[in-house]
Amino acid sequence: MTSEGRGLWITLEGGDGSGKTTQAALLAEWLGAQGRTVLHTREPGGSEVGVLIRNIVLHHRGEVAPRAEALLYAADRAHHVATVVRPALQRGDVVIQDRYLDSSVAYQGAGRVLDATEVRDLSLWATEGALPDVTVLLDIDPSEARRRLDADDKPFDRLEAEKEEFHTRVRDSYLRLAAAEPERFLVVDATRDPEDIASVIRARLSVLL
Ligand code: TYD
Repeated sequence: MTSEGRGLWITLEGGDGSGKTTQAALLAEWLGAQGRTVLHTREPGGSEVGVLIRNIVLHHRGEVAPRAEALLYAADRAHHVATVVRPALQRGDVVIQDRYLDSSVAYQGAGRVLDATEVRDLSLWATEGALPDVTVLLDIDPSEARRRLDADDKPFDRLEAEKEEFHTRVRDSYLRLAAAEPERFLVVDATRDPEDIASVIRARLSVLL
């Protein structure tokens, strides 16, 4: 979406427990130190409406039909891009965002087994075609990620509670997405030391800043 604004839009993707939040914080600190105005946001739940939607998709007890789930994430995304992300990019901010449409393709597409192209097109319709400048994929084996989440001792949300096969499909889908768009994606091994991961990400962004 650089064509729409002067800012830079970076999204972080990866399985649950891949360390996106840690990397987002390190990145925000680094960019802030360079005098850039940084907006750190996330999906689902990066707007007031989004917080309500997040509560349904992550914490509703009971079933949510796969297509309804896909639409809820797309609705969150539509509102988030229109009211938070696009205005920030137009102001010239750097937007660091935990999860975007690749999450929907991986989780609702490969995870819930909906058609990947339809899921992607739904999000592109929702956001009028908005795509990030850079997407960092923190790649991790789902069993390793599960060990990290277990160590955290927090209750699992609806998606985290899914079986290992689900998370393996999600990972494979992410890797396919990254291979299909190498100019947008940076794939990093999420088991590496967090500081090493941060420097790989900085090196990629340095050219764009
Ligand atoms: P969150 O608590 O933000 O998890 P994480 O720290 O792993 O990012 O929960 C987001 C959950 O929602 C996560 O399990 C992935 C899922 N999700 C989808 O299934 N589809 C989507 O489009 C998005 C944005 C997230």
